[in-house]
Amino acid sequence: MSRVYVTRLLPPKAVERLSDVDAVFFQEDRPIDRSSLLEGVKDAEGLICILTDTIDEDVMDAASGLRVISCCAAGVDKIDVDAATRRGILVTNTPDALTETTADLAWTLLLDAARRVSEGDRYIRQGRFVGWGPLLLNGVDVYGKTLGIVGAGRIGGAVARRATAFHMNILYHNRNRNRILEEDTGAVYVSFEELLERSDFVSLHTPLTPGTKNMFGENEFSMMKRSAVFINTARGGCHDEVALVEALRNGVIRAAGLDVFHEEPKVHPGLLELENVVLCPHLGSASEETRRRMALDAVVNLLDALNDRRPRYVVNPEVLRG
Ligand code: DGY
Repeated sequence: MSRVYVTRLLPPKAVERLSDVDAVFFQEDRPIDRSSLLEGVKDAEGLICILTDTIDEDVMDAASGLRVISCCAAGVDKIDVDAATRRGILVTNTPDALTETTADLAWTLLLDAARRVSEGDRYIRQGRFVGWGPLLLNGVDVYGKTLGIVGAGRIGGAVARRATAFHMNILYHNRNRNRILEEDTGAVYVSFEELLERSDFVSLHTPLTPGTKNMFGENEFSMMKRSAVFINTARGGCHDEVALVEALRNGVIRAAGLDVFHEEPKVHPGLLELENVVLCPHLGSASEETRRRMALDAVVNLLDALNDRRPRYVVNPEVLRG
């Protein structure tokens, strides 16, 4: 029986599917610490991990028989995929499961930041609401405005599709043209610079890679409209957090909605002081249905790999060819 290590408790249906392997779980409901991880993976042929687990060469060295790393997430930026590939270890992820749910969350943040909903909630709880006023907490309209999507893959595309219901003009920037998205939504491909200059809302949907790290910094925020709203549901490392705090504080941009942070669970103290940013604790995929499906996809990927079947979601297909 293959030995499998699982770094976090999973929903019951996913656990049931692991009955044919010798699955050992990290039992505590918190991110696994380094020494438990290094100890747990010893002798494991398969590893199911979550997006916050750093799976580097030390982990792979500790698990000399490891054949598959199944990440229960879309983003695999905490996994050293190159090192896994060199060792012939397959890396899998769960990208389809969370597309629509994360797009919903991006829209939640966008609408909240535009219409100051969380700010209004705080205002009421602080006992400051003394009655309706023509100038009270005025936000900005979303309907008919221009939405810029940076990274037009699965989630970026789903965010754009929702924008058609708001009759928005959609601009996008991506490594490649996405003709289907263009046909479906009327989205127009533009350079990154043009997108920054023309968009009222900018929503970021790129994976975190060396090429996208800090892709939004002081320069990029200063190219955006002063009335623009910045949304990030991808990875905190894609924007420069200090530059964002400064841009929000100094009115370089109007507002932001963030689901992701540089060093989660730490949040830059400057963000906590600002009213014009909506903060969310990485809830992009956090619906009951989606978390169940992510866990099931992670388990099925793992079992397929251990049984020499090609998993549906493979991050490093080179391993299968080799
Ligand atoms: C992912 O799977 O990468 C998402 O960030 C989870 O919310």
